[in-house]
Amino acid sequence: MADSLTVLIMAAGQGTRMKSALPKVLHPVCGRPMLHWVIAAALDAGADNVVAITRPGDGVEDALPEGAANAPQTEGEGTGSAILAARDHVDPDSTVVVLSGDVPLTSSRLLSELVAKHEDEQATATLLTTEELDPTGYGRIVRGDDGGVERIVETKHTEGVPADELALREINIGTYAFRARALFDALDAVEETNGERYLTGVFPLILKSGGSIAAHSTTDVSAAMGVNTRADLAAVQEIAQRRVIDALAESGVTFESPTTASVDASVQIGPDTTVANGVTLKGETTIGEGCTIGPQATIVDADVGDGTTILHAYLTDCTVAANATIGPFAYLRPEANIGDGAKIGTFVEVKKSNVGAGAKVPHLSYIGDADIGERANVGGGAITANYHRKVKNRTVIGKDAKTGVHNSFVAPVRVGDGAYTGAGSVISDDVPDGALGIARSEQKNVEGYAEKVEEGSGQ
Ligand code: UD1
Ligand code: CA
Repeated sequence: MADSLTVLIMAAGQGTRMKSALPKVLHPVCGRPMLHWVIAAALDAGADNVVAITRPGDGVEDALPEGAANAPQTEGEGTGSAILAARDHVDPDSTVVVLSGDVPLTSSRLLSELVAKHEDEQATATLLTTEELDPTGYGRIVRGDDGGVERIVETKHTEGVPADELALREINIGTYAFRARALFDALDAVEETNGERYLTGVFPLILKSGGSIAAHSTTDVSAAMGVNTRADLAAVQEIAQRRVIDALAESGVTFESPTTASVDASVQIGPDTTVANGVTLKGETTIGEGCTIGPQATIVDADVGDGTTILHAYLTDCTVAANATIGPFAYLRPEANIGDGAKIGTFVEVKKSNVGAGAKVPHLSYIGDADIGERANVGGGAITANYHRKVKNRTVIGKDAKTGVHNSFVAPVRVGDGAYTGAGSVISDDVPDGALGIARSEQKNVEGYAEKVEEGSGQ
């Protein structure tokens, strides 16, 4: 690889074929914007100056990760206009690599190979090609009698393209190395086609001015796949997903049903964890060792400790410590913080609450804005009445407390350490440590009621 390497990444296209309000290069592949994959490949290949060409105001500039500079494309349409917008970022005496922000599986290995070929051949321009993809919609390579690259024919619109050119299988991947000065000189002279200045228009001009063009052909289909439509995106997603899962499997995670798992590239999972059927893991999620996740669980931006089991559950923006049991059918919402060995059972929702180590909320409950002490047992059907006009108040249930079934806790309220509450209570006053709180009306029995009803109906 060259001592200093500038990589330009074109990311200012309109992406109209996506039919989306979101700029094309921000569409996620395994949770990560396409453009970020390309930037990462450039950095992996050792680039020390990575410049993304973006369209002012469309949001791509704001989404650039660290390590990428921005060059706004303010004038002209087309890939050629994009490169001209980055002229000031490039030393005219250097080699510059050009990538497309919509080819997300661009590989750093191929970039290195491309630059090596460019240097070995002392070429003016070197481009990456493949014959392994359906060429529909790509630029096709026209080679001369001597086998050298002459020009590229765009086949986005195929009308007017001669049949012998449409029969060409070799396509332009959109990944190039150039001598910078020759690139910009040629670009200045490229004429517009359909209102766009095509980067691919430089090749005949480079040859005309005495330059040479080399090509590096690859069979790495995934690294060649450009995304122009949602169908292309789905095809790339499938490959990227398989790679993310294979890498996790390699590090010791079992996927019982890999084709039904959806796992973002950012997710971390410890060894000896089993991911069962129908699991979705998204965002900044981390899962420890020896866990059982699923079947059917969705976990978004959550941290899960070692040895925890999560069945049929939805977790978002929350923390679960080690050896806990969640579900089946639990919903952990933001700021739920579940302690070691705790159990959150069936049809239980927890929000902004701390559930202590070894505590249990086994059935049919809503726990919001609460602090539940260690080893406490919350009876089935508990509801924290946390909301009073505009204010949220906290419910505290002390350690080792045992609350009866079907309790309402009218916050702010505290059930003391080791205290009990009676079944069916509406607890609105604090219960002291070790006491029993009962708050329900007394039962009355009407003797002989059935007989009276029968007599009454006989009249
Ligand atoms: C381009 C190539 C084609 C190649 C294909 C590979 C041209 C003229 N054609 O076609 O030969 O086979 O890529 O995937 O280059 N962009 C800008 N500014 C613009 C227009 C586009 O930055 O004004 C960016 C886009 O965001 C995209 C990239 O350039 O990341 C390619 O643009 P796109 O319109 O998708 O080109 P293709 O038709 O795919
Ligand atoms: Ca494209």
